[in-house]
Amino acid sequence: MATLEAWYMAVEVKDQTAENRLCPNQPVTKEEIADLGVLSWHVPPTGEYPAKAVPWNPSDIPDPVLAAVRTKRGYNYADIITCSEECLPDYHNKLKDFFKEHIHSDEEVRYIIKGSGYFDVRDRADRWIRIKLDAGDLIVLPEGIYHRFTMDSRNFTQAMRLFKGEPVWTPINRPADENLSRQRYLERFSALEEEKLLRETLAGSLRCWYQQGWCLGSSGSMAALLGPECNRNAPMLVTPSGVPKEQLAPEDLFLQSILGNELLKARRVIRQYVGQSLVQECLAALLNSMPGRPELKVSDSGPPGAKKGQTLRLFAAVFKERPDVRAICHIHSVDPPPPAGRWLSFHSWSVHIGALYCALPSLE
Ligand SMILES: [Fe+2]
Repeated sequence: MATLEAWYMAVEVKDQTAENRLCPNQPVTKEEIADLGVLSWHVPPTGEYPAKAVPWNPSDIPDPVLAAVRTKRGYNYADIITCSEECLPDYHNKLKDFFKEHIHSDEEVRYIIKGSGYFDVRDRADRWIRIKLDAGDLIVLPEGIYHRFTMDSRNFTQAMRLFKGEPVWTPINRPADENLSRQRYLERFSALEEEKLLRETLAGSLRCWYQQGWCLGSSGSMAALLGPECNRNAPMLVTPSGVPKEQLAPEDLFLQSILGNELLKARRVIRQYVGQSLVQECLAALLNSMPGRPELKVSDSGPPGAKKGQTLRLFAAVFKERPDVRAICHIHSVDPPPPAGRWLSFHSWSVHIGALYCALPSLE
């Protein structure tokens, strides 16, 4: 199984095609890249693709995993290009153009068929992260992310470009902070940050309370709303049942709307696929990152019995009826002490499920 490799770049770049690592090397994980909105998979090429086909007819070569990507993400355009001194006119000037920092008003999707290259993306602190791409790597850069591309020292890349609708390759060079696509990206990025922070807060709170003896390891649950909305479609994070509190990880939480339409399954599913066949892993990662993906149950892959808790519907009902409530903690303890001054006992719901606490109006 190929693993995407990425690292923080040295500030000074003399040769854009060199690795330009920091010393010592500072690696960046696939998850950290995903936090920037960059998706990636490894899908080994299944046939001999032409050096150039603009556009390319996908039915020419059967590629079931790529076909799943195209269908699920709506990429109805594909072409194939080859970048090399032999194939690309004015190669060296083109290389300089590729390396100019820019954004796009759409996703940039590349599938490396042969050869290799680097995509550089900016992190939240505006530092460059270099992502190494080899044959079989498929990468999706989100609309509005600052990035650039360069060949590596091998000077050869054969790649498939994918697009939704009529392709637009026009780069918008930095500065583009006022650009609508850039603003959309920042909005989305801050939402990802909020989700990450809330996941860590919920999982960390329950782990801490378990260690303090305030709740049992096998029972109790928490839920919290994400974003400013309190309507029926508002997303909420919910802990799974069946996962011991001391083992609860931020990625184990469900994300779903109050109405109950699940937005994101626990990422534990993906982790379970590691070590199985590559195609299964790609499909699992693929399906988990796409809107409208099929139902995958945590209990299929997580610890025995891991599933949505029975209190989920109660939590949803509380959020719908009490817009001032942003988070709920349900713990089982004979004598549960309020974990913080701002956590208030909530008795207006005549439901006896141990102890029910509501946090008003934010988690800190
Ligand atoms: Fe680009």
